[in-house]
Amino acid sequence: MKRDLLTLKEFSGEEILRIIEDSLTLKRLRRLGMKKLDLLKGVSVALIFEKPSTRTRASFTVAALELGAWPVSYSSQELQLSRGEPVRDTARVLSRYHDAIAARVYRHADLEELARFSSVPVINLLSDLHHPLQALADYMTILEKKERLSGLTLAFIGDGTDNVFNSLAIAGVKLGVRVRVSSPQAFAPNPQVLGEDIYKRIEIYENPEDAVRDADVIYTDVFVSMGQEAQREERLRVFLPKYQVNENLLKAVGRDDFIVMHCLPAHRGEEITDEVLEGPHSVVFDQAENRLHTAKAVLLYLLKPGWVAEHS
Ligand code: CP
Ligand code: NVA
Repeated sequence: MKRDLLTLKEFSGEEILRIIEDSLTLKRLRRLGMKKLDLLKGVSVALIFEKPSTRTRASFTVAALELGAWPVSYSSQELQLSRGEPVRDTARVLSRYHDAIAARVYRHADLEELARFSSVPVINLLSDLHHPLQALADYMTILEKKERLSGLTLAFIGDGTDNVFNSLAIAGVKLGVRVRVSSPQAFAPNPQVLGEDIYKRIEIYENPEDAVRDADVIYTDVFVSMGQEAQREERLRVFLPKYQVNENLLKAVGRDDFIVMHCLPAHRGEEITDEVLEGPHSVVFDQAENRLHTAKAVLLYLLKPGWVAEHS
């Protein structure tokens, strides 16, 4: 039975932790010089991009190559999808050539259709609603920096409907992290997207200062995500200056051992200042690096379950 990774709702907390631990193992192996693992020799992975990407495209491509698989990247513009071929037909065709399909899409519903009609695992490389691979790399980074996950407090400041926030909330609750969010009323978290069980366990604050108080992790993402460009002016008016992560807001944390996170790319001067992004609490480039190790762990988890046990 194939397994898809669309939202992380399909995975238990134990499974998410397992993927994170596998990622840490893969990172250690790579640092010991074991870059080329060949665990997925002969496997081919389709990567479909409807939107731009730097980290996801590069990390997934290198992850597949280092595991011995063949990544094949398709811009949606080059596929017949751009001329109206249905997602369901694309899914049935590509899954006869490839062993997995990974896609970055505008509409999450398209990813669900891709998964429904594909006979091979489908992996979400970001949709309008979820960015699960980002959350895996983020919790891996938090575990590295804070040496635990359960019992920590993560405060997300900004757009409560953001894809990165949704995935952080879903994974965070499952991992025992206290997830707080501070966003304008009009951009409050959506219970349908998160699922009622996750929604009722997150803490919603109006004021960013209250949300960050005594938090271990301060997280933000852009105010204008890909596909929302037409709302740019209206969004900036609602979010700024109140929801910017800056030195002043960080004073409200009230402790010094917190970390600042951002999935990147960042819009300096909007959701975060240059000073904070480049400052001593920021771990953003470790997060970006960890996208590589988590991409490998996800590919192995879906295509070769149990590899750690076999190889340890
Ligand atoms: N964080 C992230 O997904 O970056 P890209 O859009 O560059 O892939
Ligand atoms: N929320 C952002 C994340 C980019 C990685 C977007 O969807 O554009």
